[in-house]
Amino acid sequence: MDHFHYKDGTLHAEEVALSDIAAEVGTPFYCYSTATLTRHFALFQEALEGLPHLICFAMKSNSNQAVIRTLAALGAGMDVVSIGEYLRAKAAGVPGERIVFSGVGKTREDMRAALLGGIRQFNVESEPELRALSAEASALGLRAPITLRINPDVDARTHEKIATGKKENKFGIPISRARAVYAEAAALPGIEVVGIDVHIGSQLTELEPFEEAYQKVADLTIALRADGHDIRRLDLGGGLGIPYTRSNEAPPLPLDYGALIKRTLGHLGCEIEIEPGRLISGNAGVLVSQVIWVKQGEGRDFLIVDAAMNDLVRPSMYGAHHDIVPLIEPAVGAAPHSFDVVGPVCETGDTFAKDRALTDLAEGDLVAFRSAGAYGAVMASEYNTRPLIPEVLVHGAEFAVIRPRPSYDEMINRDIIPNWL
Ligand code: LLP
Repeated sequence: MDHFHYKDGTLHAEEVALSDIAAEVGTPFYCYSTATLTRHFALFQEALEGLPHLICFAMKSNSNQAVIRTLAALGAGMDVVSIGEYLRAKAAGVPGERIVFSGVGKTREDMRAALLGGIRQFNVESEPELRALSAEASALGLRAPITLRINPDVDARTHEKIATGKKENKFGIPISRARAVYAEAAALPGIEVVGIDVHIGSQLTELEPFEEAYQKVADLTIALRADGHDIRRLDLGGGLGIPYTRSNEAPPLPLDYGALIKRTLGHLGCEIEIEPGRLISGNAGVLVSQVIWVKQGEGRDFLIVDAAMNDLVRPSMYGAHHDIVPLIEPAVGAAPHSFDVVGPVCETGDTFAKDRALTDLAEGDLVAFRSAGAYGAVMASEYNTRPLIPEVLVHGAEFAVIRPRPSYDEMINRDIIPNWL
């Protein structure tokens, strides 16, 4: 459930008409709903009730500081995958003790910055990283709290570009080597082992792969404890999928996911961490765009909108589906009109949808791409010298621009002409 709905014939985010925002901010823009972010976070809180836990929002899905602060105020921790995200979380007011640091390529510089700034734990993904972290922490007179991210060799049955738990993926330490690497970790002076981490992929639409992975984590917890390690925290990653279409998709509910966690791991007495991104932010956001032209092609009509693949790359990168709805509610029984929905970027890949049944639309009409709150703005680029589009946060009847559209001058003046030119 989300808080984007038609009211008085126009699409609203909570109590605000998206067309009012468009009039003030211009198009295209991203718009997020506080109520939806809050509701989705609460679903996970409810799902894990009774277990000691921390929900660490995967900032990679949406890292605007206003979003971060909204979630942090509800008690969220953050999962970061770069020192940039770490600094953003800190800037938004999240204390280090609530930040977990994931990622396969942390540098020594990243490690030092996070150690000095305060960190809940590093999710370590390789032996070289482990040794470097020990050295950096020791040099600072500290011990780095760590989990090892294990690769359980489980098929997440999702898009190949976002599956991370198979042995051929670059992520984690093979589960077959886990005990040996934990033994090495325990002997390193700058390391304090606190638990185990696993993350098998994103947009999972079934619970079975989670179950398979978490069962392996349970077995490993017992084995590692027998080896003398104090395994007190289990980070179970993110990945729960969301419905991208209104009609036929029904991915598992957070409540069922929570029940699965309790069933597979609840008896171990560990603190549970999860790292959901998409389920919290995905359906809490839309991308609003305006029709520039309707162009008749050979046997098809192109709807050329002012958003493009640089603003929302998921359709061209993953073949992802985003529902597209007009801001003006179509009349009941309005005749469908099929369009290829495309952006202005000079690539055929700049196609949002092919042969999409919409209603009749004309120049100047506004549309919203749904489910765009996760992996939307964060993956945007300035390709074709198109400015990053603004982000807006709605809260009841009010809204605020939480990142403005830069001017062309700001964008262009970042280039430096060397003195030999
Ligand atoms: N934790 C780790 C270690 C991750 O790598 C990810 C996502 C998450 C948590 C959050 O997963 P979520 O709950 O959002 O599924 N750009 C792609 C998705 C990439 C996901 C990367 N890792 C897309 O647009 O579908």
